[in-house]
Amino acid sequence: MKKVLYILAIIIVIVGIFLALRPRVATSNDATNDNKILVAYFSATGNTKSVASTLAAATGADLFEIVPEQPYTSEDLNWHNDKSRSSVEMGDRSSRPAIASKIADISQYKIVFVGSPIWWGREPSIMDTFIESYDFAGKTVIPFATSGSSDIGDYGANLQALAPNAKVLTGKRFPTNVSATELKTWADEQMQ
Ligand SMILES: Cc1cc2nc3c(=O)[nH]c(=O)nc-3n(C[C@H](O)[C@H](O)[C@H](O)COP(=O)(O)O)c2cc1C
Repeated sequence: MKKVLYILAIIIVIVGIFLALRPRVATSNDATNDNKILVAYFSATGNTKSVASTLAAATGADLFEIVPEQPYTSEDLNWHNDKSRSSVEMGDRSSRPAIASKIADISQYKIVFVGSPIWWGREPSIMDTFIESYDFAGKTVIPFATSGSSDIGDYGANLQALAPNAKVLTGKRFPTNVSATELKTWADEQMQ
């Protein structure tokens, strides 16, 4: 009997050590995980929306659309007209178009990918509204964009100036048909 109890005790100790040392399985979007990722995007004509959705799916991130309080009509987007809404907004660095949507709890995200089209060689003014709407202190912000041909340029530097307590990376411009594999490889490099 004593021998049986002795063997039982040894088994309990071994199982205890095994349970204590086993690796903890956590997905990238585990609610208790400090490394939750958000992909926040603005898209006027759908190109950036498509890239943002692929990026979120490839990285296991939550997806948030930055919805303008006043949607952009096609005339608003007419860059040939210097009086169109987008031309006027982009000509005024202090312009801050209002956003209708709100992130429920940004504190749960450590890494925030921020995407939009390139307008007039930089981030649309509504992205300036977005970056000023939340506390990004201690977070890593990674810009991405779509465009006709313009590169990412000063996108990251512009956001960094508006969110000095965040770590804003340079970011990257992608063609609309970028693959999930390319986005995942890029995102993993950025998050290291
Ligand atoms: C007002 C406005 C300004 C733009 N300025 C540029 C630009 O400077 N360089 C560029 O390559 N593309 C420019 N584009 C093209 C957009 O960046 C491109 O079509 C983008 O993929 C649109 O993304 P979306 O469908 O997510 O809105 C501009 C488009 C608009 C509407």
